[in-house]
Amino acid sequence: MRQVLIAVAAFALGATAVAAQNVAVIKERKDHYKKMGDAAKPVSAMYKGEADFELEKVQAALKIMQEQAVILPKLFPDDSKTGEKTEALPIIWEEKADFESRFKKLGEAAKAAEAKITDEETFPDAWKEVMGNCSGCHKKFRKPKS
Ligand code: HEC
Repeated sequence: MRQVLIAVAAFALGATAVAAQNVAVIKERKDHYKKMGDAAKPVSAMYKGEADFELEKVQAALKIMQEQAVILPKLFPDDSKTGEKTEALPIIWEEKADFESRFKKLGEAAKAAEAKITDEETFPDAWKEVMGNCSGCHKKFRKPKS
């Protein structure tokens, strides 16, 4: 009897989980992206020549990207496709392997750039390469800005 009750309870729990969209995780991933965007912003200003080069800020941004590249792929469960004005496109869940491999590539590119960038000379090319990973993924997997 006890086992039957547990089974019934587990089924009920499962059913609720499927029905409700996981809005908490959508909020969470947006926060993590924002962290990455906020770190990249001052460095992109340096890249455009709108701010003075500061190696420390560049290196800090590259570290944050490496951290986020590990955290973010876990924040796209099947029950987080809609809600919270998500800009995530359904193709993420159709091509999960491609999507996840892009985070891996971003992490690797940020790591390589961390070693490569030592001064203003070595900065632009390596930074551009890292940022290509952001725009490449957004183009395919994120709703375009309307
Ligand atoms: C593997 C794919 C992928 C990569 C790589 C990627 N992004 Fe994104 N990004 C997304 C998706 C998908 C969303 C939409 C998330 C949502 O709305 O649920 C997003 C959203 C964002 C947002 C908006 C967050 C918000 O507040 O709604 C920012 C900012 C952002 N990304 C910055 C970056 C930066 C900077 C990089 C590179 C360092 C990057 N992203 C790399 C897929 C990616």
